Amino acid sequence: SVLFMFYVSQNDLGLDTTEKDLLLSLVHRPLELQYKYGNLSKGECKPGYAEAKMTSIYPKFSKPAPMFLDPNFKRLSKIISYLPPFGVRTQEKIIDHILQATKRYSLGSELDSISCKKCIIIGNGGILFNKSLGSQINQYDVVVRLNEAPVAGFEKDVGSKTTMRITYPEGAIQKPERYEKSSLFVLSAFKPMDFKWLRLMVFKEKLRSMEGFWKSVARVVPREPEDIRILNPYFIQEAAFKFIGFPNNNGLMGRGNIPTLGTVAITMALHSCDEVAVAGFGYDMNTPHVPLHYYEKLMMSAIKESWTHNISKEKEFLRKLVKGGIIRDLTNGI
Ligand SMILES: *[C@@H]1O[C@H](CO)[C@@H](O)[C@H](O)[C@H]1NC(C)=O
Ligand SMILES: *[C@@H]1O[C@H](CO)[C@@H](O)[C@H](O)[C@H]1NC(C)=O
Ligand SMILES: *[C@@H]1O[C@H](CO)[C@@H](O)[C@H](O)[C@H]1NC(C)=O
Repeated sequence: SVLFMFYVSQNDLGLDTTEKDLLLSLVHRPLELQYKYGNLSKGECKPGYAEAKMTSIYPKFSKPAPMFLDPNFKRLSKIISYLPPFGVRTQEKIIDHILQATKRYSLGSELDSISCKKCIIIGNGGILFNKSLGSQINQYDVVVRLNEAPVAGFEKDVGSKTTMRITYPEGAIQKPERYEKSSLFVLSAFKPMDFKWLRLMVFKEKLRSMEGFWKSVARVVPREPEDIRILNPYFIQEAAFKFIGFPNNNGLMGRGNIPTLGTVAITMALHSCDEVAVAGFGYDMNTPHVPLHYYEKLMMSAIKESWTHNISKEKEFLRKLVKGGIIRDLTNGI
């Protein structure tokens, strides 16, 4: 469509007029079609690539969706009618309170101003171990990490840059000294209790009990309110019901209908980034003795059956993204 032609302005390419005319004469098909049928190359960032590819496979995919909640979140009709984890119903007041304190609702002016963003989601899989992908990972504009996945000591394999860490109370790093120096702390809320917990963390108040959590949680998040965000729960809803096809269960959390955090993060990136890559997802069946996580000795046999997730159904969706060339999988585990 016309939209994609506008992206390639003279300035973006740094060409003079003659070169630009020559280039345009070589472009026979609209860029959107080139993106749909072409492959991701290692070269320059392609503006609008993820959206164009995604729309070709999921025609109802609609890009506009804020990455994080901001004070206008009550206008987001899709999330206002669902309870957590698929929406914010019943949590409006506490979210208002949190957002008044955090004051910031975007990636930050530097990243917001980039016209073509390449993002990578780092999964925690043992498949990342000893692959020396660190320097490649550091080249992405946005590096997303999940839960307590460490960076220090693993830089050679997982890189040293962290733009944001998406987590929930039970998954968050518990020891304050283990947080990297700077990164956005992003809550992906799965239950009402998670918002209550975040409010305590933002206002640096004491957590009095672990009741309501399924394992012990962080008591302190060493981040200023301005570095804390709430992930738009629409990505959980969209991944579950529109992309993976989990049972709707009247819009309530139920058996096998909650996507894992990694898939939620990928869904977010498809809305916000021009190109999306992943690493550390899935398992390499040819090497069954690799650890479950890149940072611990637990073996793959430790994978537990989960009531809320449906890993095999979710994997079909991720495979479709990789096979369709929508996302790049640096570790080939999906
Ligand atoms: C894209 O990659 C596939 C598989 O690697 C290859 O068969 C195909 O020719 C490539 N298409 C283009 C346009 O480069
Ligand atoms: C890491 O990979 C290198 C080769 O790339 C190999 O020599 C080394 O033994 C590996 N280390 C471990 C701990 O697997
Ligand atoms: C996962 O999805 C498959 C296919 O829809 C279904 O047969 C299976 O029962 C589901 N498993 C769980 C744990 O919900």
